[in-house]
Amino acid sequence: MDNEYSGYGRDDVNDINNMNDGDQQVHSAAGNDRGHGGATASGDALPEDHRLLDEYNDVHMHVFGTPLRVLDHGQGVHVWDVDGNKYLDFLAGIAVNSIGYAHPKWIEAVAAQAAQVAHVSNYFATRPQIHLAQKLIALAGAPEGSHVYFGNSGAEANEAALKMAKLYGAQRCAELGTDKPYRIIALTHGFHGRTMGALSATWKPAIREPFEPLVPNIEFVEANDIEAMKAAFDATGKGPITAVIMELIQGEAGVLPLDAQYIRDVRALCDEHRALMIVDEVQTGIGRTGSWFAFQREDLGGVTPNIVTFAKGVAGGFPMGGMISFGEGLSSLFSPGTHGSTFAGNPLAAAAALATIGVIEDEGLVQRAEVRGEQLRTDLRATDNPLFAQVRGRGLLNAIVLKRPCAHAAVDWALEHGLIINACAPDVIRLAPPLIVSEQDVNEAVAILAMLPEDLPED
Ligand SMILES: Cc1ncc(COP(=O)(O)O)c(C=O)c1O
Repeated sequence: MDNEYSGYGRDDVNDINNMNDGDQQVHSAAGNDRGHGGATASGDALPEDHRLLDEYNDVHMHVFGTPLRVLDHGQGVHVWDVDGNKYLDFLAGIAVNSIGYAHPKWIEAVAAQAAQVAHVSNYFATRPQIHLAQKLIALAGAPEGSHVYFGNSGAEANEAALKMAKLYGAQRCAELGTDKPYRIIALTHGFHGRTMGALSATWKPAIREPFEPLVPNIEFVEANDIEAMKAAFDATGKGPITAVIMELIQGEAGVLPLDAQYIRDVRALCDEHRALMIVDEVQTGIGRTGSWFAFQREDLGGVTPNIVTFAKGVAGGFPMGGMISFGEGLSSLFSPGTHGSTFAGNPLAAAAALATIGVIEDEGLVQRAEVRGEQLRTDLRATDNPLFAQVRGRGLLNAIVLKRPCAHAAVDWALEHGLIINACAPDVIRLAPPLIVSEQDVNEAVAILAMLPEDLPED
């Protein structure tokens, strides 16, 4: 098995045609028969799950396909479906439920805030919103004069960042006295969301192209190829590059890491050309990869972005996203009316986020992500499952690359055996458990994954 923490140059990343947030495999309700909970495929009474999934399909847009199960409740790293079946959750709502389900401190904080005030609009401010912004600036190590904008999702966070980059671009063009349009660079295999701006910077053609034309002058450059990046910066006859938007580990593309040297070199190019470096930490941020933000990892030697976006794990399951702009000059590009959202900085979401971050700090979960991630990768490699081609990741954002494109069958098989995982490519399984995961939980997950049959059907 290839154990190296590397990923580019593989053909399979060009072949990603399914499965990321909101891009799930379509399961038929009948395909959900799992031999327990009283259900049979031969016509006995359907379990509650099947009945509800039929109802789901009657009334929901089919953008997600048929869900795998109807879930009822969760506790810690476990979740139960409506028929009472228990699952060990190594997906955590796609890297969202960082402190697991029903953490007492989260419940207490959300309940107390709900009783106090749940929403006020941006004509008013609340304590949780202010304290959360202060906390995030501190955790990101952002300098004096840095500011936070809150939104409600990862896509919205990136929309805000791209809008800031556009204002910066207009300013740069004026400074340079050019009427050539400024350009924004995104990377191949990158995923930034599905709203129009974020989608314009999202690489996967199958989800982007049906909506073109999108935001103009966003160009894709091959990830991890610094010569390609230099060529983009040096292109003659074009407007200036004003921002590069990138994930440091491309989560939706199969947990593909960018090389440390590449990241440092992109930073240097951005400095040289006065372009913004926008780091999308929607999936990697808030402790998931063993540091509060992935840009803080030691081998990057202090690379500092101009803008960081976050969402997913920040509020432990409550919808929230946002961005931090580093330094006063940049923040001043946004003035009253430039951007906004009714729910931005919602006190309930902010209280949930403060509670989540508090638990991560109190329980040492950033360090735990590092230790448990190491255990997970080491133990998975030690299984010598012949289906595994590579195990890779950082902290608790990990992937198993399979030798054959049978990741969706692997997800179904694991679910039947009580483990929730997901397929982010036809041959890649993603493992992103809650950060509270214990040694025993990792042992259990590895024991199930070790048994993944070699002859699973291909997608
Ligand atoms: C890196 C990254 N950016 C942005 C997004 C979009 O976030 P959301 O689904 O909350 O809009 C995602 C979602 O998977 C993501 O992984």
